[in-house]
Parts: sequence; structure tokens; C-alpha cells
Amino acid sequence: MELKQLYAHELSKHIGESLTVTELEELIEKPKYAKQGDLAFPCFALAKIKRQSPVEIAKGLAQVIHHTLFAKIEANGPYVNCFFDKHQVSAAWMKQILLKGNHYGDVQVGNGEQITIDFSSPNIAKPFSMGHLRSTVIGNALANIVEKCGYHAVRINHLGDWGTQFGKLITAYKHWGVEEKVRANPIPELLKLYVEFHEKAIESPALEDEARAWFKKLEDGEAEAHQLWEWFRDVSLQEFNRIYELLGIHFDSYHGEAFYNDKMERTVELLQEKGLLSPSKGAEVVRLDEYDLPPCLIKKSDGATLYATRDLTAARYRQDTYHFAKAIYVVGQEQQLHFRQVFLTLEKMNYPWAKDMVHVPFGFILKNGKKMSTRKGKVVLLEKVIEEAIELAAKNIEAKNPTLKNKHEVAKQVGVGAIIFQDLRHERQNHIEFSLEGMLKFEGMTGPYVQYTHARACSILANAAAQAIQPSAIGLTDDYSWAVIKQLMAFPNAIETAFKQFEPSEIAKYVFQLSQEFNKYYNQVKVLQADEHMQGRLALVQCVTIVLKEGLRLLGLKAPESM
Ligand code: ARG
Repeated sequence: MELKQLYAHELSKHIGESLTVTELEELIEKPKYAKQGDLAFPCFALAKIKRQSPVEIAKGLAQVIHHTLFAKIEANGPYVNCFFDKHQVSAAWMKQILLKGNHYGDVQVGNGEQITIDFSSPNIAKPFSMGHLRSTVIGNALANIVEKCGYHAVRINHLGDWGTQFGKLITAYKHWGVEEKVRANPIPELLKLYVEFHEKAIESPALEDEARAWFKKLEDGEAEAHQLWEWFRDVSLQEFNRIYELLGIHFDSYHGEAFYNDKMERTVELLQEKGLLSPSKGAEVVRLDEYDLPPCLIKKSDGATLYATRDLTAARYRQDTYHFAKAIYVVGQEQQLHFRQVFLTLEKMNYPWAKDMVHVPFGFILKNGKKMSTRKGKVVLLEKVIEEAIELAAKNIEAKNPTLKNKHEVAKQVGVGAIIFQDLRHERQNHIEFSLEGMLKFEGMTGPYVQYTHARACSILANAAAQAIQPSAIGLTDDYSWAVIKQLMAFPNAIETAFKQFEPSEIAKYVFQLSQEFNKYYNQVKVLQADEHMQGRLALVQCVTIVLKEGLRLLGLKAPESM
């Protein structure tokens, strides 16, 4: 149990029915100054209910509360301050962490229910953009966090593999495409063809008709059109998978937009039956006037369905298949309107689960203050960026620790970790500036800094093991240990906040702070000095490795034992 909960429990024994344990927990504060104790309970709310002075109530409570983990309970005006017994608390906590290992911090809110997480979702025949990178790392971290909270995560890659653009791509390929070139360098070549189509179509508008015809053939399942589309999809997916492989990310489903082709008619029918479709200049829409929003487009005048139709259908499919407790969409903030329209349409369709749909938006990646864009062939190839980060990490290792074992593996873990951490350390809604050099630094709030702290702690443990010294959860009372213990105690809370706000940066902040506390500790305290606290200090170091490793895992980073 968390100490706040424990304190609330103890208070509740003497307060009775006036306030519930949860209400008490919410009232309990963390005081600013150490002299005010570790937790403080303000008596104002209770005073109102009991029509008594808060100062009197505080005095009374301070006299009756006792617990082995509390050293002292003290009334301070209207507050009841609680001082922990450092020796007992540190011993109990270390014991708990050593016992639970990587399960320390598991929060049981989910009960095995499923949460679908729609993330990454790049578009076929287009480069994997920086925006998709953000969605990928945020979505993956959220999936890990959701699992840590007792849910089952369903990781869905909603590939952008359908739409009129494929008619254009096929047209361009038929006119100017060279098979070997596409095979050798699929995405850049396909992008080139797509750009070429748009340039040429300005002078010869007939190309547009041709593209429409090809898309029609594609929709009708005509063999050549389908074969080309499938080929474009396959080669694109191969490239995306190389990136996922590098990042260490997997999916449970690759059902993209095309998967819903034969399922959309039913959605349109349902909308019709529920009387929600309105004609609009030959097209069919769901009006959202009552929300002051533009209508949700369901069918174009030529009968073609749209992005929103596919999302409505996918949502129904996911509810039928996974009975999700929540359906999360990790997609850039520029699609805010789209998701509001889709979710409100589901609500108008009277699905009770419409309230469980969540759009988790995030900001742009900037380079020198400007949005990084993939348009007009100005492509930043993500794979190149990742490779460059790994190379830089390898150079670093070569300079600092050339005899390191598994050099290549560690360089990969550090390079990739740097990229992921650089993203997740920011609150997701913020725009972030991209800097390869910055993210690979060993100082400051970076992945390598946290990984390095973990490796440093591991080396103390290895050193102790070589001398046959065993860690043991013996209580510690000095201030440096206490600062680390307190930080270790905050882990479950960080996870819960990260989950409630869908904010992996809470975990990034947490592991960074724990690293800072531990490095202070390491600089001040000789862990392996032979005295009666040595095994206790060693236990503390081990707890730090457990929690850092688990925190990094939640974010999607590896924790090498030496680097
Ligand atoms: N493919 C889309 C894009 O790149 C993102 C899809 C997000 N997921 C969804 N269900 N709409 O913009």
C-alpha cells in the first residue's frame, strides 16, 4: 500500500463515516518543508462537517494515531502532520521492491479488459514521417503503460492503404514507372511518381480522369489494379517493418483502411436506418450543426467512401472483435476535428461505447523552429536518422569504453533509446525541436543519461557480487538514502498519472529524477564501505536498477548493464 493510502486508512479509523478513505486520500498533502513531516492532513473539510474547530480536531487526531511505519504524528495548527519512520519504511519498501521485481508498480485498474491502441499508422507508398515516428513511440509507450495497469493492449497499425491517391499512383506508374527502380528503392521511387503525377496533371487534366478510372478498377477488384496496389503495399510494409525492427516495436494487427472495404456498406446502411444521413451537393454527410462542427463526410458524390467512413467502420469492428474498454487513437493534433466528428457520429448512432473513444493528440517535430515536412520530396528519411544515432552512439563507446562487450548491440540500444527518450521526455502536446547531437548527450534529460545511471548501478552490484556481498533490505536512515527511497516510492503514482493522462512523459520525468537522486547518492555515499549498513545500501542500489529498468521498458528503451 502507498503511504498516503496507509495514512488515510489510519485517519479513517478515527474519523468514522464523515469522509471516505478515498476522500481523505485526496485531501492529504505533501508539505513543502521537511519540518512539517512527510504528509499532512488538513482538517478544514472535517471541521465543516463536524462543526468543530479544525485546530481542535487536529489536536485530537494527533493523539490517537499510531502505526509502526510512522515515527511521529504532530498537530500543527489545523494540520495533522505525519513523519515516517525512515528505518522501518525504507526496509519495508526495499523488501517489497526486491520481492516484486519488475512487477513493482503494477497498478490493478484494468482487470484484463482490452484497450485498443491505434498508433503509427503510416501511409503506403509515402515516407514514414517524423509525425509517424511520434505516434509510434508514444503509442508503444502507452500500450506498455496500459498493460502495466492491468489491461490487455491491442496494438493496431491502421495503415493508410486506401484512397483515390492509389488511382494516381497506378496511373503514374503505368506512364513513367520502372519496375527495377521501384524494387531497388520502393518508397522514394513511388513518392517521385506521385509527385510527378501532380506536376504533369496541371498541364494534362486528362490524367485525373485516368486516375479516377484506375481507382474505380481497384475498387472493383480488377486484377492488374489490385496486383499493383498489393505490390506497393508489400514493398512499403517491408520498409516500415525495418523501422519497427530497429525501434523494437510490434503490432497485433495491421488491418489498414483497405481491410474495411467490404464492411463499409453496413455502416452506411446503419447511418441510413438511424436517419442520420443528409444529402449535401450530391454527397452524403452526417450533420453536426448542434456541436457547431462541419458535417462528417460519409460518401462522395461519385459514391466513394471516405477516411471517416473507414474510421467509423473500424471502430465498430474493433468493438465487435475486442469489446474494448477504451479505444485510443495516437494521431497528430491536426486530426483533432476528424476524430471529434467520428466520435460524435458514433454517439449519434447511440453506441454506448462511443464515450470510450479517446484521441491522444501530439505536437509537431520542428527543425530550427519550422515544421518538418515530407511534402514536395523534402523527405527526412527516418531510417537514416536512426542509423545515424546508432553510429554516433557507437563512436561514443569507441572513445569511452572500447573494450565493452556487445558493443554493437549496446550502440543500437543507446542510439535508438536516445531518439525515443528525446520524444517522450516532452509533454506530448508540445512541439519538439529535433536535434541529433542533443539527444545523444550523457548529461541532462536524455535517454543515454538514464541508461548510463542504470549501468553504473549495475556495476556496483557486479562489484559486490564478485566479493560475495549480498544485498539485504536493512533499513536506512541517512538523508541521501531517504531521498532515493522517496523517489522509489513515487513510481506507482507516476504510472497511474501517466495512464490517466495518457502521458508517457510522466514516466520519462520520473526515471530522470530517480537517476538524478541516485547520482547524488552515488557521489556522496560509499556503497561498498564495510559497515553495518553496507547490505542495506546495496539493496537500495538494486532497487534503483529494478525501477530504472522497468521505467525504461515502459518507455520502450533497453537498459544495458554496462555501456
Ligand atoms: N494514416 C493516417 C495519417 O498518416 C493516420 C491514421 C490514424 N488512425 C486512424 N484510425 N485514423 O495521417
